[in-house]
Formats: sequence, structure tokens, C-alpha cells
Amino acid sequence: MRLPALVHLVLLALLPLAGAEPCPSDMNHIKDLLEVNCTGQGLSTVPSALPKDTGILLLSANHLASVFTDAFLPLAALQDLDLSDNGLVDLHTGPLLPSLKELILSRNALRALPTLQGLPALTRLALAHNHLQFLAPGAFHAVPQLQDLDLRGNQLRTLPPQAFAGLGDLKDLDLSDNVLEELPQELLQDLRKLENLWLSGNRLQTLPTGFFPEGHFFPYVFLTENPWHYPRVATGVPGFLRAHGRAGTFPKIFLGFPETCGGLPGCVRELFLPGSLIPPPCL
Ligand SMILES: *[C@@H]1O[C@H](CO)[C@@H](O)[C@H](O)[C@H]1NC(C)=O
Repeated sequence: MRLPALVHLVLLALLPLAGAEPCPSDMNHIKDLLEVNCTGQGLSTVPSALPKDTGILLLSANHLASVFTDAFLPLAALQDLDLSDNGLVDLHTGPLLPSLKELILSRNALRALPTLQGLPALTRLALAHNHLQFLAPGAFHAVPQLQDLDLRGNQLRTLPPQAFAGLGDLKDLDLSDNVLEELPQELLQDLRKLENLWLSGNRLQTLPTGFFPEGHFFPYVFLTENPWHYPRVATGVPGFLRAHGRAGTFPKIFLGFPETCGGLPGCVRELFLPGSLIPPPCL
């Protein structure tokens, strides 16, 4: 009778595992990837028994305070990883995750940017609502294919001129709701494909002369909720007050730019300024 007793004991030991809901998985037909949803499961470690063909892994709203990307090495097809809302303090990157394209780290407690080593295919990185205070020059060198970078809602006060060096594919850059007081003139220099720039909700009074690279067309630039100082800002925003200041209805308007910006040092089609504190231009 010893053997059945042992079996009983083993079964008892397995009971908690058997009782735990595995993360549900389903085919994401838009991305044609297997999506595994471990959202809000109270996890403090990354589950080890995930389907090998996981393409999208949702791990948000858990308690993953420190994550080593080694945990995802068995998932060779992993493209999207959501680690938002975890109280994440450290993300240790390094091991090669060649397929990872989207990494969502928003609403965590990161004080420093992870090194981002081993993520060469990354195209989208969301770091909104963390506690980042600094970016090192070349901070994103390891992820040269980045197209979308969200740094909204951090505590960035200044940026080094080379903060975004090498990001030649970047299309969207969100720096809104930080505490930026000034920006380096060279900031956008490498961003040849930049389309949309968000700088709303900072402490900017002016933009440096030549801030928008010559001949570069930006469909949208959002500059609302900054204490803009007129006329100093006019030297940094190409011709905008010179050309349109006489509209004179600040702070409620946004300004349209002609598509061809003949003679202007840069091309901005629309500049959103509502809510800013620019006084009416002196006439
Ligand atoms: C993932 O699971 C959570 C909790 O069960 C649910 O609220 C959420 O809608 C799911 N997300 C997706 C993308 O299916």
C-alpha cells in the first residue's frame, strides 16, 4: 500500500499547479501570431511553460519588479511583449531576442533606460509614465530600427544633443508631459524620417534657432501647454510667428503652414499650440 500513498502525495503536490489557470492563448488574426494573455494574474516571475510559438505575450498588470530577458529566450517567435503596469524597476536586456519588434514598458517605475542590448529588430518602444530623468548620448544605439518612441510622462529636464543619434527610421517621437526646459539644437538631426513630434506639457519657453532641420517636412508638431515666450520662440519655429502671428488669436488656434515652405528653414505643416501661454504677438 506504499505506492498508492506516494501517488496520492504526488497528486496533492501537483494540485496547486493544476488549479492555476494557465494564461489563455488565442490566435491574433490581425497580426497572424499566437497571443498569450497573462494580464493581471498576480505573477511575480515570468511563467516558464508558455507555448513555444508565442508571438504576442501580454504580461501587464502583474508584479514583475525585475525582469531578465533570458526568460523569453525559449520563445523564438516572440514579436510583441507588454510589460506595462508592473511596478517594474529593472529590465535586464542582453540575450539576443532577434524577433522582438514591440516592447511596452509604460506605467512602471524605471529610473534609468534599459541598455536595450539584444533587441536589434525593435521598431516600437513605449516607456511612457516611468521615472526617467536622463538619457545618455546614443541611448538608443542598440535599437537602430526604432520607428515609434514614446517617452511621455517621464521626468526629463534636459536632453543631450545626441540623445536620439542613429534613429534614422524614427517616425513618431513623444516627449510630452516631461519637464523639459530647453532642447539642444541638434536633437532632431539624425531623425531623417521623423513625422510627428510631441512636445506638449513641458516647460519650454523657446526652441533653438535651426531646431527643425532644413527642408525636413513634419506633418504634425504638438507644442501645446508650454510657457512659450514670444518672440523668442519665433526664431526656432521656422517663420511661424513671422508668417502667421498676425492671426493674433492665441492661445486658441493652431497654425497651418503651406506645404511648400519656400525659403523657410524647415517645413512644418501644422503646429498645434492651443492652451499655450504665448501672449498675442506684438504688432
Ligand atoms: C487579457 O486578459 C485580461 C484579463 O483577463 C482582459 O481584461 C483583456 O481584455 C485581455 N486582453 C486581450 C488583448 O485579450
